[in-house]
Amino acid sequence: MQEILDRIEKLKTEIREAAIKNQDDLEKYRIRFLGTKGLVKELMGEMKNVSNDLKKEFGQRMNEFKVFAESKYQEFKSSHEEQDGNASTGIDFSLPAYPSESGALHPIHTTMQKMISIFEKIGFTVAEGPEIEDDWHNFSALNLPENHPARDMQDTFYISKDPDWVLRTHTSSVQVRVMESGKLPIRQIFPGRVYRNETISARSHCFFHQIEGLYIDEQVSFADLKQTLYYFVKEMFGPEVKVRFRPSYFPFTEPSAEMDVSCFICDSKGCNVCKHSGWVEILGCGMVHPNVLRNAGIDPDKYSGLAWGMGVERTTMMQYGIKDIRLLSENDLRFLKQFR
Ligand code: DAH
Repeated sequence: MQEILDRIEKLKTEIREAAIKNQDDLEKYRIRFLGTKGLVKELMGEMKNVSNDLKKEFGQRMNEFKVFAESKYQEFKSSHEEQDGNASTGIDFSLPAYPSESGALHPIHTTMQKMISIFEKIGFTVAEGPEIEDDWHNFSALNLPENHPARDMQDTFYISKDPDWVLRTHTSSVQVRVMESGKLPIRQIFPGRVYRNETISARSHCFFHQIEGLYIDEQVSFADLKQTLYYFVKEMFGPEVKVRFRPSYFPFTEPSAEMDVSCFICDSKGCNVCKHSGWVEILGCGMVHPNVLRNAGIDPDKYSGLAWGMGVERTTMMQYGIKDIRLLSENDLRFLKQFR
């Protein structure tokens, strides 16, 4: 009996150390240990030679051995199937997964948020108005009556044949809506998209974004306007950038001006963004015309206002050194991925 028990121990060691590399090895193992003429069966057959008083112990030992040999077989089999799976699908399951790509905010959005937060810091709140506007809010109330030549400045998209409905050509329309609401004083900005029937080029597009500003109170002055915009430029572009105001004309402001910043895409040396002038126009502004205040039911003898409308695309291009406005609306991933 001891002889057989020693043999079982040796066989266990053999099983523990068995190197099962492929299907053939596995089958050999099965036949050698578990087959109908295998070792488990053969050793079980020894039972008849064991004396009666030892039969119980022998039976237990043999059973343990059988369970051990079978469980090892299952273990080898399943690890072998895993490897086999890899080979047949050609997939290496141990490879790390591809990192999932994160999205990003569009540069227009990021710039707009920055611009908005600069004005919020000095007490401006945000309001919005509709992109489809009526003639009154987009033109007439802004001192641009029908047949006014300045209407030509804005290449308007009309909605169907009804000339009363347009895609707003500027965010100045929101000024009128807010003034009409009757609450004074007003210190607000109006960000949004605007539309113009313009030829698309590196510098201009048929839709773009503006941030309109409006401050109406008693004794608002042109000095307030300049100071507000100087503050904005320094916060937005840093202390190095130069600013210049040029007298201009807008029907809804008097006096009117345009503001340029020194072009830091080319360091004022001249490029296509600044039209080789070294300066980039970023906004129109002025003191709200008395007619506009009157049209909205505000007494121009008591109140005065300052207003501006600034281009978000230009500002974004300056911020990131983007030389073609079309990149901002083409959704080319090669471009957009640079802003992650
Ligand atoms: N609405 C003008 C434009 O789109 C920009 C503008 C100029 C807005 C002067 C203003 C302003 O509020 O006072 O060209």
